[in-house]
Amino acid sequence: MKISVAIDGPAAAGKSTIANIVAQKFNFMYINTGAMYRAVTLMCIRQNISYTDVNRVCEVTKSLKMHFEGEKLIVNGEDLTESIKHPTISNTVSNYAAISDVRKLLVKLQQQMAGEYNVIMDGRDIGSVVLKNAPLKFFLTASPEERAKRRYNELSEKNISVNYDEILNDIIKRDHIDSHRSSSPFVKAEDAVEIDSSFLSLSEVVQIISSYIKKYIEEHR
Ligand code: DC
Repeated sequence: MKISVAIDGPAAAGKSTIANIVAQKFNFMYINTGAMYRAVTLMCIRQNISYTDVNRVCEVTKSLKMHFEGEKLIVNGEDLTESIKHPTISNTVSNYAAISDVRKLLVKLQQQMAGEYNVIMDGRDIGSVVLKNAPLKFFLTASPEERAKRRYNELSEKNISVNYDEILNDIIKRDHIDSHRSSSPFVKAEDAVEIDSSFLSLSEVVQIISSYIKKYIEEHR
C-alpha cells in the first residue's frame, strides 16, 4: 500500500522546505504541486499567453512533461526549479492556477504520481481534493508578516532584489485569489492537523510532522 502525506497551507508558509526534509527522512517522493502551477505560468509567459486565453493555456499545460528529481522540477527536459521561483512568476501564478481545466489536468497527474509512489505532496487543495483519502494531512500556516519576512530573507540570500512591503502585499493578494477562486478554492481539510509555525523553528515543525508519520507507519506495519 502506498502512503500519501498531504501538506497544505498559504503562500510562503515553509511547506516546500519542510516537505522536502520530511520526504528525505522517510525516503518518500516529494511533489511540489505549486511548482507545477508555476511551470505552466512560466511556459505561458515565455510564449506571451495570458491567463485569459484559457484554451491556449490548456494546450501549453497538455504539452508539458513534468517529473520531479528530488527537489528539482524537470519540464520537457529542462530544469525549471530556480526560474519558477522568480517574483514575476509569483505575482501572476494565482491567475493561471485559478483556471479550472488547468487544475483538472494537473490534479490527474498528481494523483497518478501518488498511485505509484509513497509521496509527500504540498499545495492548496491536496487534503481537500487531490488526496482526499490521504491518512496524514497537515495544514501549515504562519502570520502573513512572518511569511513575508521568511520569503524576503530567502530571495535576498539568492541576490534577487526584493522589497519587504511588496512581498507582503503579494502574499496577501495571492492568499485572497487562492481562497476565493471558484475552482477548488484553498481551504483547510476538516481532518487536517493544523500547525501554526509563526513561533516554531523549522526542525520543530519537521519533528511534529515526522512523529505522526512514524506512528502511522508503526501502526500499519
Ligand atoms: O505554493 P506556491 O506558492 O508555489 O504556489 C503557487 C501558486 O499555485 C499559488 O498561487 C497557489 C497555487 N496552487 C494551487 O492553486 N494549488 C496547489 N495545489 C498548489 C499551488
